Amino acid sequence: MNSEPRAVVLGEHCAMAQAQPNIALIKYWGKRDAALNLPVVGSISITLDALWTRTRVAFEPGLEQDRVSLNGRSDAAEAKRVSACLDLLRQRAGVNWRAAVDSRNNFPTAAGLASSASGFAALIHAGDSALRLNLSDAEKSVLARRCSGSAARSVFGGYVEWAHGKLADGTDSVASPLLEADAWPLRVAVAITSTAAKEVGSSEGMRRTAQTSPFQSAWIETQEADLATARAAILARDFAALAAISEYSCLKMHALALAAQPGLLYWNGASVECMRRVRALRGQGVPVFFTVDAGPQVKAICEPQAVEQVKAALRDIPGVLDVVETGLGAGARNLTEAEYTA
Ligand code: PMV
Repeated sequence: MNSEPRAVVLGEHCAMAQAQPNIALIKYWGKRDAALNLPVVGSISITLDALWTRTRVAFEPGLEQDRVSLNGRSDAAEAKRVSACLDLLRQRAGVNWRAAVDSRNNFPTAAGLASSASGFAALIHAGDSALRLNLSDAEKSVLARRCSGSAARSVFGGYVEWAHGKLADGTDSVASPLLEADAWPLRVAVAITSTAAKEVGSSEGMRRTAQTSPFQSAWIETQEADLATARAAILARDFAALAAISEYSCLKMHALALAAQPGLLYWNGASVECMRRVRALRGQGVPVFFTVDAGPQVKAICEPQAVEQVKAALRDIPGVLDVVETGLGAGARNLTEAEYTA
């Protein structure tokens, strides 16, 4: 009996890829087209290195339906999103083969660490190779965006900007690199303050905000200026300027969402304490700033020499369950079988 996994034996339309989550410094919140995941605003992010999703996609002409395993388990809702994403690749390739997909993260899923960003960027990257589509990175970014908005940014490494675009078909709503990770290797300490899945997902949160928050138009009107300030700070490697504009964008996004009806409150007590502690450290001259997404984890971004002090300060806060450190990393890439199984 041959005990090797079928996907590997068949091999012909099989590929493996890795992608890392990204964290927005200038936030995306709000869709101009929910079906195509087109954003009302542009955004700027950093791609991480220590956290990853590794995905294997094997298209098998004989398979009756997609088989999806995420972290060793099958989940109907997630499998549906994966199949919809595979459909985009099948359409491009002109095939209707079903696929076996295996994907795992080395960090908790749905805990506010953007597992959908790395997950869909890895899926598109592996699927492109498996079907030999030879898509450009920009085309991969467009397809990843349609599966999960912020996945558009995880196709690239380092500092990345995702344009909101103007076209109705979304072909100009694509991410592109601003600066390589190595050119400004900041560190990130992620304070985990809860491992529960978030109460209101980002799509529902964005829909509710657009329909009810009185601040929606101010949010859209002021975003271009924030993007320009952040872009300039990144290109000049000006930490103080990036700190100021990033905290501003984060707090503005939360103020916008807090003013929805009912209000979206993504923080817990420990999240607030972490933000206060980061500001106190900065007041003492430590180069660090915070950002928080649609969940209670606080990401503290700092210069490399400050990371031990930042981690120790966050660990000290009651309600902080763990602090995970990461640097900035590369974009999505192919993996060999040995790298995938390592
Ligand atoms: O792409 P989504 O649905 O994961 O939404 C991301 C929303 C934020 O993380 C809050 C902001 C961002 O730009 O990543």
